[in-house]
Amino acid sequence: MPHPEEKRTVLSLKRMKKRGEKISAVTAYDVPTAKIASDAGIDMILVGDSLGMVLQGYKNTLKVTIDEMIYHTAMVSRGEPLSLVVGDMPFQSYHVSIEKGIENASRLVKEGGAEAVKLEGGQKRFPVIEAILDIDIPVLGHLGLTPQSVHKFGGFRVQGKLKNRAREILQDAVELEKLGVFAIVLESIPFELVRKITETVCIPTIGIGAGKYCDGQILVFHDLVGYTKVYQPRFARKYADTHAVIKDALCHYIKDIETGAFPAEAESYPLKKDIEEFLK
Ligand code: KIV
Repeated sequence: MPHPEEKRTVLSLKRMKKRGEKISAVTAYDVPTAKIASDAGIDMILVGDSLGMVLQGYKNTLKVTIDEMIYHTAMVSRGEPLSLVVGDMPFQSYHVSIEKGIENASRLVKEGGAEAVKLEGGQKRFPVIEAILDIDIPVLGHLGLTPQSVHKFGGFRVQGKLKNRAREILQDAVELEKLGVFAIVLESIPFELVRKITETVCIPTIGIGAGKYCDGQILVFHDLVGYTKVYQPRFARKYADTHAVIKDALCHYIKDIETGAFPAEAESYPLKKDIEEFLK
């Protein structure tokens, strides 16, 4: 495993696959979360456009803008995590033209401090992925249930259950490796197909709802720590119930205000004795 104090790079992640070491990844959208992830030893932070659903309350990720992604990526970078920081390219930021894709990927790096960018999709996106790689920005691929294609898929549905689509996903993974992406996120794909992909490509596969045959796993931070109470897919294992912990703290706070138990004298600023006399 990399030394806990070692800064993770795209090379460290590739090395981990070679050594058969598992990669841990999580989303983060701000400084405190980036710092917690880094302190815990998470290998990769994705500033995902999932923030559209998790933070902004949208039903899908389609409304998230490149400026919002830069804003959040810059926050994560300012936390100076040891984890590799990947900025997500939102819908329309790389679909209109190759030039726009290059410009937006560069902005994520230059203004947001991203160390790599993520783009969703297979064959149709190869030209723009190639162009971004050509200006030396590392790219993380994303196949399977790519949320920016939610309308095409008719909802958030598992991908690759049938032969043709399974073949397409496998082929896309092989081609993405040839293009030079440093890793691929595999989302909501049957685990047998994921196993085949992981065994076929030499770059790391990072799964979400993709079973255990991946080189690493990624979860949305807010799902993992139980921060929100909204619907969670079956793969989103909840490692804590921070919603309950925080709610409990707030209820306690309200009670203390009502009873006068907060603030205590030690939490207030006293005057010097002579000025106190003067006030009297
Ligand atoms: O946007 C995101 O957070 C993602 C991950 C869930 C893979 O794409």
